Amino acid sequence: MNNSKNILVTGGAGYIGSHTVVDLIQNGFNPIIVDDFRNAQKSSVSGIEEIIGRSIEVREIDVCDRVALKKVFEEFSFSGIIHFAAYKAVGESVDSPLSYYRNNIVGLINVLELSIEFNVSNFVFSSSCTVYGEPTDSKVVTENTPIQPANSPYGNTKRIGEEIIEDVISSGVNMKILCLRYFNPVGAHASSLIGELPIGKPNNLLPVVTQCAIGKIPSITVNGNDYDTIDGTCVRDYIHVLDLANAHVKGVEWLAQQENPIVENVNIGTGKGTSVLEVIETFEEISGLKLNWKFGERRAGDVVEIFADVTKSFNLLNWKSNLSARDAIIDSWNWELKLKND
Ligand code: UD1
Repeated sequence: MNNSKNILVTGGAGYIGSHTVVDLIQNGFNPIIVDDFRNAQKSSVSGIEEIIGRSIEVREIDVCDRVALKKVFEEFSFSGIIHFAAYKAVGESVDSPLSYYRNNIVGLINVLELSIEFNVSNFVFSSSCTVYGEPTDSKVVTENTPIQPANSPYGNTKRIGEEIIEDVISSGVNMKILCLRYFNPVGAHASSLIGELPIGKPNNLLPVVTQCAIGKIPSITVNGNDYDTIDGTCVRDYIHVLDLANAHVKGVEWLAQQENPIVENVNIGTGKGTSVLEVIETFEEISGLKLNWKFGERRAGDVVEIFADVTKSFNLLNWKSNLSARDAIIDSWNWELKLKND
């Protein structure tokens, strides 16, 4: 058994990765970041280092470059891997499907192959609630809710990724894998030293809200107001990135306790739904600002309403969310203010 505390974190300089790296260190692990910074900034590494008060190991490598990645496996002995590195923009994936399949699938295969070659048996995969599509029977999804055909190449890379992992485990290799199905990650570190850094025009709701409030974008379009929901706008399960980060630490600890090959899919959400209008109203109340928003057309392919059944994450990983959507909105706004002051 490998007793090292070294954890390879691919995409560790990104939004969820950077918060996870901090939490890993605070729980006695030694994360090593592999990131090519195509969708992350060097400032996130200095932010991590400022929070934890020491420097961290970073290798500037594309996970699709197998030769370079192998050198990292030769350099360090890992007890576990958290594989974040992937593209994640739904609209972009529709325009550039092949770059999504290449990056997300080839990257996963490379990391899995090297894990097997170097006997690293504990593996966490970043999956998404997008695999559920539009849930039919209930808006609350358990891990047994049927998977739907993906409505974007991005979503399909998550579905295919989970299927590849199932097949790898079925082949009899000595690996233990957690596929964490994230709901909607929001918020930032309370220190405002790390947070989400969307490159170009943001697509996700919270960055759109905070960037509008700070004046980076002129207005917000609420995508549809005639859905069958509490107020006609779409409902999501917004999970604070700090809670999400901690789910990875709990996941790595759980994997280390497993003796036999296993794969588990686990929802990582709060179990509570919040509508788009509720996000906007909460933001206005917290910031004291009036947002320039209007109703627009429905967004093609949008899921109407979905939130997590969180029973399995608690029973299996002893993890649950502690922070609310409101907490996340406060931290996202402080982060945006900090970016402006910098
Ligand atoms: C989706 C996926 C999520 C995936 C993410 C990647 C689902 C349920 N979720 O998130 O798993 O990781 O893409 O980006 O499939 N909205 C507006 N105006 C805006 C921006 C957003 O009204 O300017 C609305 C959207 O229409 C949606 C809600 O806000 O109803 C949340 O949107 P977004 O933040 O983009 O996340 P999802 O689409 O839920």
